[in-house]
Amino acid sequence: MSNDVDTVRGILRQARSIAVLTGAGVSAESGVPTFRDPDGLWAKFSPQELASMEGFLANPERVREWYAHRRSIATSVEPNAGHYALAELERTHEGTFTLITQNVDRLHQRAGSRNVLEVHGNLIENRCNDCGHIRTDDRLDCVECLGPMRPNVVWFGEELPQDVFAAAEQAARGCDIMFVIGTSAEVWPAAGLAYTAKQYGATIVEVNPNPTVFSREAHHVLVGTSASVLPQLIGVAS
Ligand code: APR
Repeated sequence: MSNDVDTVRGILRQARSIAVLTGAGVSAESGVPTFRDPDGLWAKFSPQELASMEGFLANPERVREWYAHRRSIATSVEPNAGHYALAELERTHEGTFTLITQNVDRLHQRAGSRNVLEVHGNLIENRCNDCGHIRTDDRLDCVECLGPMRPNVVWFGEELPQDVFAAAEQAARGCDIMFVIGTSAEVWPAAGLAYTAKQYGATIVEVNPNPTVFSREAHHVLVGTSASVLPQLIGVAS
């Protein structure tokens, strides 16, 4: 794999525009569970009950408690070397680097990443289900319209934040290299960003310890964890 890393580092040096799409695997080494790994969240919990509007309306208290639990995990762990490597990559490619994440844990931002497109929202904020008012406290009803407050994450069947996704699509179309890191690439439309980048001519690099449905689309597959591979990409021994 090391020569693959060297090859990718050579491509990176020539890149004029870099896009990165991350998934739950990037936070795994921080101690945040993924969704579809054998020990992932969907092996223990029902996405329909906990990550859908129907589930929320059926039992808002259960959903709020589950997200409060996930928020306590996300805020009690630390970013890992993979997060820090991506923040460093952004610093050395000022203005030509876009980080698109499916993650809601805000570990990228805590590691120093600044231009982060959260296509699935975030765990830290709550949003009014009716008027969209955002808060970070645990009020149950909206101060603006008394609507129900819910986690500011995108649930199955819900629209992604359109402005954020439009910016992500623009980055996918315009980049000349896209890294697809720590994602099973099974959940659309976010996964579609990787296919869009390829369709628009970008070199595609997947970073994942396991094969995915997307692996055969990648020009380079760096087999390994993000915390071990990404520091090598920026020339830091992990
Ligand atoms: N480093 C890199 N990748 C890893 C690591 C690691 N240390 N550990 C696991 N992975 C990989 C797994 O091999 C898998 O391909 O991370 C991927 C995690 O896949 P999922 O659990 O499906 O997570 P993700 O792709 O982010 O899910 C997408 O699904 O449930 C929804 O909204 C949720 O944003 C999430 C979306």
